[in-house]
Amino acid sequence: MFPDELRSRRSVLAGGVATCAACLLAGCGGAAGRPAGADATTDPGSPALPSGPVDVGPAAHFAADRIDARWAGRGFFVVCRSGRAFAVSARCTHQNVPLDAGPSDIGCPRHGSVFTAEGEVVKAPAQRPLPRHAIRKTPDGRLVVDTAARFEKDRWTDPAAFVLL
Ligand code: FES
Repeated sequence: MFPDELRSRRSVLAGGVATCAACLLAGCGGAAGRPAGADATTDPGSPALPSGPVDVGPAAHFAADRIDARWAGRGFFVVCRSGRAFAVSARCTHQNVPLDAGPSDIGCPRHGSVFTAEGEVVKAPAQRPLPRHAIRKTPDGRLVVDTAARFEKDRWTDPAAFVLL
């Protein structure tokens, strides 16, 4: 082997080792680096959603119990239950896949997890309940969801995590 060729191969090998080390430090791993069945917060197949406030309309339009999926593309469902409205995440806690809302529950098309309208897990493989986003009523009676704020189950009773209708 010629010295120049050997030097070139060493350089390629060193670059590859550096890239792998940087990837490990950054925490990237993809599906191969994730234990099967583990909850995940990212999925390369589901693009990141824009975060921030979303005006979902007059509070009077949310009086009846239901799951409103009009903002699923922004990452949440507006759920009304027993005089309260809250914004439930529309991404699966298993692998961050967009969820489908039914009349009374929420399902994942990828591996079949089912959640209640409130976000509790009914059927695995998902293990964690769906988080909620901040929601507030404006002085003129409109509901605004803020996807930049997130409430895990232990904070669902936070006054910023629901509104009284
Ligand atoms: S991504 Fe696996 S159950 Fe939703």
